[in-house]
Amino acid sequence: MTHPDYPLLARQLDALLDDNDWLVNTAQTCAFIMQQVPDLNWAGFYLQRQPELLTLGPFQGKPACNPIPFTKGVCGAAARSRETQRIDDVHAVADHIACDAASNAELVVPILREEALWGVLDLDSPQPGRFGESDQAGIEALIRVFVTRTDLPDFLASR
Ligand code: SME
Repeated sequence: MTHPDYPLLARQLDALLDDNDWLVNTAQTCAFIMQQVPDLNWAGFYLQRQPELLTLGPFQGKPACNPIPFTKGVCGAAARSRETQRIDDVHAVADHIACDAASNAELVVPILREEALWGVLDLDSPQPGRFGESDQAGIEALIRVFVTRTDLPDFLASR
């Protein structure tokens, strides 16, 4: 398996995000990850635009499930726990939501705004066990770059 140079990717993402607009930056971040991290079949954002519900945001890959309640799936588990979910085999997860039959491994990183859940970054791979601890740490670091460079709107307050 190829191991990406995550510190290099973090510097490149920081240079790429030259605008603080959340829509531009979510689109650019998932496109960048899809290009630079090997063996992914889906990379994208789900955003908490209504309470306890994840709405599909910018992504790369096949059309995906929408919306996802906080009670469901790996994304819901990340949203509820606010902890990264790293799954070697999604078929072993009882309530995994299968959007693309090619997906076997999944990594979901929560994104917080003022201690509330803003959204999640969801990565899928056809390769079982694709995401190791170093991938988790590397992708979490990319999300820190995204959060630092982005003006995250308060979707829940503006409804
Ligand atoms: N598998 C996810 C749903 C999102 S898709 O993978 C894009 C889940 O169980 O939450």
